[in-house]
Amino acid sequence: MNEAPLAGRERALSALTKARRRTALLTDCVEGPDLTAQHSPLMSPLVWDLAHIGNQEELWLLRNVGGFEPLRPEIDPLYDAFRHPRAERPSLPLLGPSAARSYAAEVRERVLDILDRSAWEGGPLLRDGFAFGMVAQHEQQHDETMLITHQLRRGGPVLTAPDPGPTSGPAVRASEALVPEGPFTMGTSTEPWALDNERPAHPREVASFWIDTVPVTNGAYRAFMADGGYRDPRWWQPAGWEQVQRNSIEAPLFWHQDGAEQWMRRRFGVNEPVPDQEPVLHVSWYEADAYARWAGRRLPTEAEWEKAARYDPATGRSTRYPWGDTDPRPEHANLGQRHLRPAPAGSYPAGESPLGIRQLIGDVWEWTASDFLPYPGFRAFPYEEYSQVFFGADHKVLRGGSFAVDPVACRGTFRNWDLPVRRQIFAGFRTARDV
Ligand code: AVJ
Ligand code: FE
Repeated sequence: MNEAPLAGRERALSALTKARRRTALLTDCVEGPDLTAQHSPLMSPLVWDLAHIGNQEELWLLRNVGGFEPLRPEIDPLYDAFRHPRAERPSLPLLGPSAARSYAAEVRERVLDILDRSAWEGGPLLRDGFAFGMVAQHEQQHDETMLITHQLRRGGPVLTAPDPGPTSGPAVRASEALVPEGPFTMGTSTEPWALDNERPAHPREVASFWIDTVPVTNGAYRAFMADGGYRDPRWWQPAGWEQVQRNSIEAPLFWHQDGAEQWMRRRFGVNEPVPDQEPVLHVSWYEADAYARWAGRRLPTEAEWEKAARYDPATGRSTRYPWGDTDPRPEHANLGQRHLRPAPAGSYPAGESPLGIRQLIGDVWEWTASDFLPYPGFRAFPYEEYSQVFFGADHKVLRGGSFAVDPVACRGTFRNWDLPVRRQIFAGFRTARDV
């Protein structure tokens, strides 16, 4: 039985509460020194994310929606992501762990008050509870960021989760699927909590193409490695080749060889053999692009990815998810940190698209060939620093979400982006080819 869809207020309350439970899980499992330490220059101390989550919630829900005065104006600059790059954050006079926790809790207490009282029709910020949904998504995005910090942290495991169960149901129909040519609707104008960069819905012409029905696996990626892929400049973009040379990269991040030259990986504090059937993780855009060229293929464009994920050839409509319009359930996709790893390639038959393409949502973020650009008719909302300042050729688009993404921040239209050199994010890829 499907649950009845939650009404606006309930949905907002449940999304905020779920996000805070996850934030607590990620920050209560380590002691103070691990919260204030910087585990990688690429990341903030966990205690920064914690107070930044509270500070953004205060800004949007207490000040903008609620009309409150700032609770602690003197801390605002510390938690402005644009004022201080991540590498600098440990040297700031940040709130300590208990002060950060109580600040976030104090903000939340007042937010729950506002949620009860606020009129739901008060302009675009409040329509369908958008501001509450945006804040819940923001917290979940930082929860994924904090999970990346956990992955980078040295030392034994502090997080546990069951492994994904074995797949039951039919195997994939084929290794690739043909997506027919023709226009489809990209982006959305109707999804209530879609962020500014997903809007508006617009027609896109896409030529027919073939796309992998599952993400590229560790086993397939090892064939590229074994074939000298990291030593052959033919496969690499110049900047990627330079990164590989300068850092002597010869495998995905977190991989190493044991005494018997078996490939091992470190995953949340555990060393284990690299599982061949799992989608490859922790590769840069350059590594994904090089693999695809070696395989005689290419990365899908962002429009191709979204058409593969949303286009229903039977109706010509774009659905919210590959499986249709219903919210994700556990049998559809590996989302929400239920597991601390991707599921084997070919899992989640119930989540496949009409064309038989699997694991588009969840498991691993998928690098696309495309730069992060605004859609025609884009309007920054409610602030330019979410998307607009990142548009351009510096950032590549990732789609689909990872095992670390909560369903509230994941849908067929959701767009993520990062620098093409980044490897610590939970990213893999699938490949495509022209017809
Ligand atoms: C969309 C994941 C690239 O973490 O930099 C968090 C999300 N924006 N706070 C990021 C975000 C502001 C953003 N990404
Ligand atoms: Fe943020």
